[in-house]
Amino acid sequence: MMPKIEPIYLKDYKKPDFEIKKIDLTFDLYEECTIVTNVMQIKKVADTNDIVLDTLDLELQELWLNDLKLNDTRYIITDEKLTILNVPKEFNLKIINKIYPQNNTELEGLYKSGSIFCTQNEPEGFRRITPYLDRPDVMSIFTTTVIADKSKYPILLSNGNKHQCHDFLNGRHGTTWIDPHPKPAYLFALVAGDLGSITDEFTTVTGEDIELNIYCDKGNEDRCHHAMKSLKEAMLWDEEVYGREYDLEIYNIVAVDSFNMGAMENKGLNIFNSHYVLADEDTATDANFMGIQAVIAHEYFHNWTGNRITCRDWFQLTLKEGLTVFRDQCFSADLNSKEVQRIEDVKTLRERQFVEDASPTSHPIQPKSYISMNNFYTATVYEKGAEVIRMIYTLLGKEKFRDATDLYFKSFDGQAVTTSDFLWAMSEASGIDLKQFESGWYNKKGTPILNVEQSFKDGTFTLKFIQEDDFYFPLKVGLIDADGREIVDEVLIIDAKEKTFVYENLSTMPIASINRDFSAPIILKESEKDFAFLMKYDTNSFNKYEATQNFAMQTLQDMINGLEIDEKFIDAYGYLLDLEIDNSYKALLLELPSVSAIMQTQKVVDFEIIYDAKERLAKHIASTYEEKLMGIYNSLDDLSIPNRAMKNRALRILSPLESDMVINLAKEQYKTSKTMTQRVVALDVLENISTYDAKDELEDFYNRYKTDTLVMNKYFAILASSDAKDVLKKVIKLQDDKVYDEKVPNLVRSLIGSFARNYKYFHAKDGSGYKFVADKIIAIDAINAQMASGLAGAFKVYDKMNEVNKSLMKKELQKILDTDGLSKNCFEIVGKILG
Ligand code: PHE
Ligand code: ZN
Repeated sequence: MMPKIEPIYLKDYKKPDFEIKKIDLTFDLYEECTIVTNVMQIKKVADTNDIVLDTLDLELQELWLNDLKLNDTRYIITDEKLTILNVPKEFNLKIINKIYPQNNTELEGLYKSGSIFCTQNEPEGFRRITPYLDRPDVMSIFTTTVIADKSKYPILLSNGNKHQCHDFLNGRHGTTWIDPHPKPAYLFALVAGDLGSITDEFTTVTGEDIELNIYCDKGNEDRCHHAMKSLKEAMLWDEEVYGREYDLEIYNIVAVDSFNMGAMENKGLNIFNSHYVLADEDTATDANFMGIQAVIAHEYFHNWTGNRITCRDWFQLTLKEGLTVFRDQCFSADLNSKEVQRIEDVKTLRERQFVEDASPTSHPIQPKSYISMNNFYTATVYEKGAEVIRMIYTLLGKEKFRDATDLYFKSFDGQAVTTSDFLWAMSEASGIDLKQFESGWYNKKGTPILNVEQSFKDGTFTLKFIQEDDFYFPLKVGLIDADGREIVDEVLIIDAKEKTFVYENLSTMPIASINRDFSAPIILKESEKDFAFLMKYDTNSFNKYEATQNFAMQTLQDMINGLEIDEKFIDAYGYLLDLEIDNSYKALLLELPSVSAIMQTQKVVDFEIIYDAKERLAKHIASTYEEKLMGIYNSLDDLSIPNRAMKNRALRILSPLESDMVINLAKEQYKTSKTMTQRVVALDVLENISTYDAKDELEDFYNRYKTDTLVMNKYFAILASSDAKDVLKKVIKLQDDKVYDEKVPNLVRSLIGSFARNYKYFHAKDGSGYKFVADKIIAIDAINAQMASGLAGAFKVYDKMNEVNKSLMKKELQKILDTDGLSKNCFEIVGKILG
């Protein structure tokens, strides 16, 4: 049976017929069920008789209009709507309904994560709690009372400021919260549990003292300090850089283990995947620490870009997400290393968004239709959305961009708006016309390709840019003369299909360094180029990195086409090894292109060929520079993040040697490691060396961390991403491990998700990988549709695969599509992939 498929279109947007001025919610939480009492003050604002509320799996108990209890002649209930007939112009509506959070495995609406009650309402979870106008342009003032057993749930939280506590005779207690800021239902949150916490304070620019709390499972309090520090850094940064001050008396963050995404910006009560809160050096890597800082900041920044100013409808999602990702990227760049941050952000964009944009699920940052909104929390809306904001920033410059965001906040505070409203503010404050920018970047899908033609004659250098469409963007360009001196560094504006720029009076032909800092999210097509020269002389840290990647990529492509390894690349690589630069940056320069990056350059994809080329190149580098790498490894202590990054890089580069020396080095690193950063890389290296069986280290790791699910995620991920033999067999068996739980998204992502990204085994030529993942998608779809459709993303490369893999994939995709009761989420993704 096919699910009900009714795409929603942006062009059909209509203003709501009713306003909900106030909503008063009471939750009576019990072990079997929860009773919700919802009292709304409603006003009709259009010419209509009936009010149609959104709802899902409703168990209605009572319905009151003003003081009249309604019988079933006055309303109609279906699975997804509650219609109340003939309502007056202004009225109070009271709804009492029952829900079952304990049975909620979709993790949307009110559910339980372990013994904690918590909520997730973006985008459309609130309708699973109580009937409502569940759309972001209906904003209301929420008062929430949570009532529960006092000993089991001493902590009762909701949005806004704490108003009142009440004790009842039967061992139950209640807390009332008032959020004075009108908000859409997707920002509503509730938490009840027996939680540990740490507390701190932040004084805002205007002298308001804000109480800060981070809640977690008891026993984890000591792992919350980095998150707290990050929160205070974010609060200060948003005041200094954007002039944004916090606006409630209290800011609460709760860490839960079962969460579909990273975190959620509910007003005054952020709910986080514990992965983005908990960290200490023994259990979290340096990358985990950075991730926490970024996500804590991201959710905090949403308070202004998302909450105070929200989206009119879900097609506007990039309004808050693109902008907020841009803000958190800048924050991380300011607090850490700018050069490393930019490279990491572009890497993520290319790994995830470029792949999406080249697939059948490609969509503009502002999509035009959707079947399930859950499927549109994508790398395109988020990461490409952030690149689009970054281009605006580059076009306007720092000062005008700040004027423009000031105008945006002033004009639209308290409203639900569109991306056009945002662009209006950007234009208005800067005088820059962004119409062409909008029609391209917001409304077209796909990654623009920019062809570059260069010529030099009589001292004149000509740069000609040709694109198929007419995207408008800033292009940072540098010119370097034959002596390695930079003679030009400027931002060119590309606003037509063809643009030519001329540089005169030059004695020799310069080398062009194009799209510096990745100023536009495009694919550059240049004819041959002296990458080794740019690796040496480019002053732009990002393009120096690009040159190394491009040179490596060219070498790999030649190898795929049957040529020998280009020794010039090997020499250039040796030059990098000798550089005395920041070690984090150096570690990035030395990383070979990922299998996914190589895949993107192929017309027809065969992962076996890609792996073979990459392995041969890696081996050749390792044996050429063995001594040098050992020297680097031994010369560095492991006391700083950059040193650990470079040491780990050296170990990884050496590992293809698979020699006793490398095995001993990794074993020693594992044994003596003081941080998770070193431990996990040593373990991963050992697991992937084919001449070594890492069972002792794996067992040691397992026993040490088996009660810590966050660390066990790393264990599962290492085994599922391994190159070793029998990975699929091991993954199948690991599902029976005591620690594994198919209902916890983090565990599914680390075991099944990692396997689906293990190209070697997912794309195995006997179809076993596809079959396993497809069966998992079908099983998990019945538990959590959002998780299942996320896993289905692994099949996005379908179109580009060679015939053998393609037909194996097709069979499995068809099987998913033919499943009885398949969710809308999976139907939309798998349907698109199959075409
Ligand atoms: N709005 C959240 C964020 O980006 C992401 C999210 C979406 C979380 C949907 C849960 C569900 O910060
Ligand atoms: Zn966000």
